[in-house]
Amino acid sequence: MVRRHPGGYGSPSGEVPSVYVVSVINYKGGVGKTTVTANLGAELANRGMKVLLIDLDPQTSLTFSFYDPDDWRERLRDGRTVKRWYDGLRGDTPAVTLGELVVSPGPANAHLTGAGRLDLIASHLGLADIDLALARGVADGEDYDRELFRVRGALAEGLHDAALDGYDLVLIDCPPNFNVVTQSAVIASDHLLIPAKADYLSTLGIDHLCGSVGELVDRYNADARRFATSRRHHKVAPDVAGVVFTMIQLTAQRPIAAHQGYLDQVRALGLPVFPTALRENVTLFAGNTPRGVPVVLRHRVTSPVVQEELRQITTEFIAHLQPREVTV
Ligand SMILES: Nc1ncnc2c1ncn2[C@@H]1O[C@H](COP(=O)(O)OP(=O)(O)OP(=O)(O)O)[C@@H](O)[C@H]1O
Ligand SMILES: [Mg+2]
Repeated sequence: MVRRHPGGYGSPSGEVPSVYVVSVINYKGGVGKTTVTANLGAELANRGMKVLLIDLDPQTSLTFSFYDPDDWRERLRDGRTVKRWYDGLRGDTPAVTLGELVVSPGPANAHLTGAGRLDLIASHLGLADIDLALARGVADGEDYDRELFRVRGALAEGLHDAALDGYDLVLIDCPPNFNVVTQSAVIASDHLLIPAKADYLSTLGIDHLCGSVGELVDRYNADARRFATSRRHHKVAPDVAGVVFTMIQLTAQRPIAAHQGYLDQVRALGLPVFPTALRENVTLFAGNTPRGVPVVLRHRVTSPVVQEELRQITTEFIAHLQPREVTV
């Protein structure tokens, strides 16, 4: 359904990727990245899309949204997490393909009504050490630059896996930092989706994030001219799908004045802002609800957060992707 334009920007190798990649990113912590990733992914799957979620956060919150920690320990920890793939990049352990790491969370998939699918590549606490490990042993200078270029482009390369061809969309839940793992997600992405709270530091952070993304992309494309091994290399150019505001307090169905000011401020930065914001509902998100099934799939939940906002944000997200969509 949603496929990247064959003539568009692409992966470091320049091959036409068959899967559309979106990173959910903000290096401010606790702004709703994981909540948005889980529910957006689930709702898209419920509308018939084949969605692959990738948890790149060592906190493993997205993974634990779908798997019980005991289950993760027994079935996923040692063999089926994205850490194993990043470990393989260094050559210390045998390389695996991303396709080998995919798991299908049972309870969430049992709640889907259509022909869609929701799969996951799980995370691991040890992913926090990857950043240091990837840089270890490579001296400064040209070799270091080449290695950094390789690692930054590795996820984009890894997503060229025939086993992943069936997915319409890959949604990546990024950690709240901008380390090399996060950078590899940015380089692999067609779009960035930025959840944010409407407060001073979050708003400040968005501007800063966009600056860091711009610098990374420029550096990566410049390095590609020095180090790319494929003649068919395309420039990477992820764009901002939009800022989605979360945890908003409403009065008379409108964001309270303290929030509205920040919404306006982000629009003034020239960034697209989703018309629908996610209101704060602590009971819904922190409540004693069944594990493994995002709220958007829980049929008994009648909150406007689900009925109106999460579904509407999904519709707005799809609408943003439409102009780049091609029929395949
Ligand atoms: N609309 C909401 N109303 C109330 N609580 C929310 C809402 N959205 C998310 N939360 C809660 O806020 C906390 C942070 O959300 P979440 O984990 O999605 O943020 P995050 O940006 O992924 O955090 P981190 O940076 O640590 O990865 C969680 O406990 C979550 O349940
Ligand atoms: Mg998170």
